[in-house]
Amino acid sequence: MDKTKRKAIIAGNWKMNKTPNEAKELLNAITPLVKDADCEVVACVPYVDLSVALEVVKGTNVKIGAENCHWEKSGAYTGEISTGMLTEMGVEYVVLGHSERRQYFGETDETVNKRTKAALAAGLKPIVCVGELLWERECDITEEVIARQIKLDLFDVSAEDVKKTVIAYEPVWAIGTGKTATADQAEEVCAFIRATLAKLYDKETADAVTIQYGGSMNDGNADELLSKADVDGGLIGGASLVAEKFAAIVKAAGK
Ligand code: 13P
Repeated sequence: MDKTKRKAIIAGNWKMNKTPNEAKELLNAITPLVKDADCEVVACVPYVDLSVALEVVKGTNVKIGAENCHWEKSGAYTGEISTGMLTEMGVEYVVLGHSERRQYFGETDETVNKRTKAALAAGLKPIVCVGELLWERECDITEEVIARQIKLDLFDVSAEDVKKTVIAYEPVWAIGTGKTATADQAEEVCAFIRATLAKLYDKETADAVTIQYGGSMNDGNADELLSKADVDGGLIGGASLVAEKFAAIVKAAGK
């Protein structure tokens, strides 16, 4: 695999953390630390933080993402946010199908697929999350689970569009637990995702897709995880809320 074909992307997923004032403070701390980054740097923040976040990163190399979007353009969907609302603001990325949305909010592969297609149609870059539960890993069906998610979440997405899609491999047992997949485990599944994409599309398309690892990635383990051939970046939860830690992971991606 040739990593030079792909852009490394380090994205923070802030989840339900930081008020607008706190977001301003954190991004003001992050932007100078990552200004020479040799990778794409993204902060995916709560909806209410988007406005201030976009303002703070203006003129910097940091891009802003949302943490979800709806598939309809508008209508009676109380509490939802459309792709048009995000693009009009200047949002570039959107996290979709995060395991917390799947676990707590009834997200399914079908709705992840609808959201992914809507995001791509609107010109947003989706970060589509896949990953197995601990129970599924113990039953030795990780590859089946991942292949199913990839096939369903990307159903009817063209090769051209899949190249604009980021896949985040987040083993559910490693999220927020401090239990990181080993670099070899992360590489094994990221390589499997790429092989699955090659089967669904073709090798050239698969080689162009950025595949991130997520799950307790931090400043201590990023170097090793990011040194792997098919790990093209990270989707960072907890460590993205501490400017120095996030900046150290960004630095590791540039090595
Ligand atoms: P943690 O880095 O806190 O484990 O979260 C990972 C994650 O879910 C990113 O989307």
